[in-house]
Amino acid sequence: MKILIIGGSGQTGSRLQQHLDGTSFDYYAPSREVLDITDSRQMLEVFDGYAPNIVINCAGYRDAELAETEPSRCFALNRDAVAELASLCNGRGATLLQISSYMVFDGHKSDAYTEKDTVNPLGVLGGSYWQGEQQIRERCPQHIILRVGWMISERKFELLRNIIAELKNPAPFDVIGNRYGNPTLADDGARVIVAIIRQIDCGATVWGTYHYGGVKPVSESELAETILHEVAEYDEVATEQLNVLAADADDESRKFPLNCKLDSTRLLHTFGIHANDWTVGLARLIKGFYV
Ligand SMILES: NC(=O)c1ccc[n+]([C@@H]2O[C@H](COP(=O)([O-])OP(=O)(O)OC[C@H]3O[C@@H](n4cnc5c(N)ncnc54)[C@H](OP(=O)(O)O)[C@@H]3O)[C@@H](O)[C@H]2O)c1
Repeated sequence: MKILIIGGSGQTGSRLQQHLDGTSFDYYAPSREVLDITDSRQMLEVFDGYAPNIVINCAGYRDAELAETEPSRCFALNRDAVAELASLCNGRGATLLQISSYMVFDGHKSDAYTEKDTVNPLGVLGGSYWQGEQQIRERCPQHIILRVGWMISERKFELLRNIIAELKNPAPFDVIGNRYGNPTLADDGARVIVAIIRQIDCGATVWGTYHYGGVKPVSESELAETILHEVAEYDEVATEQLNVLAADADDESRKFPLNCKLDSTRLLHTFGIHANDWTVGLARLIKGFYV
């Protein structure tokens, strides 16, 4: 089984490589210089040279605010490049595993979103994820689309590091109390991807869309409080720094859903993959950050 990882330098892609290092799978994770998926020539060269059986696309445009100002760049990566990738996979008999997002939903539901729920992206980024997904469904039946929750890792500029930096800043830190999601360790996301690959390798043909998020879902302010509690073990931070705000649920200009919760039941029933408690991994991550 030969696995091509796209976006191998990112938080999910790098963790994925660590997980695969302990297996007998052969993988190739070219840098963006070697494989820019918006470059058709490079895509063909890599497919011709490596001939993957499965392609895991962990590359993506992710900045929701910036996407509103440069939609063409966002769609070029999250839709058009994904469409080309899907056609290539289909033509070469390879499986495509694409990482997607809760951003395809509008967040108006109160419970966690299942794969059967109607999508209605609020902004450019969510729209690009959804249109990319649709291209895959049309072009490459042999696919897994894995929508994941709020990804957390120790990598630079990511959610955790930003929150710790804010907590150390004496100025009050604004967090949203009515935005909910599933914090998901990048390492845990990589575990899930490897578990799926193992079953595909064993002949499972359960193509389709799946959700994965760490248990249990919390509000953005609860996540910040949990991080603060852990950070306080090692650093000087004060709880009163958190300034909990409520986002206006009726604001039509909002580009991100307030309910980002994902229901992972289908993944459990199909692959037997249980959702992990994100607080355990988070405590380990924060300890690693300081010690
Ligand atoms: N982070 C989240 O909270 C979250 C939530 C839901 C879904 N997702 C989705 O999950 C996937 C993985 O997320 P992540 O947080 O691991 O991403 P990440 O850390 O931002 O990494 C993105 C990766 O994509 C690569 N990349 C960017 N443009 C590329 C291009 N044109 N060609 C090839 N590679 C390119 C980057 O390479 P360089 O290092 O060279 O820039 C990097 O390796 C993404 O599709 C993301 O949209 C993320």
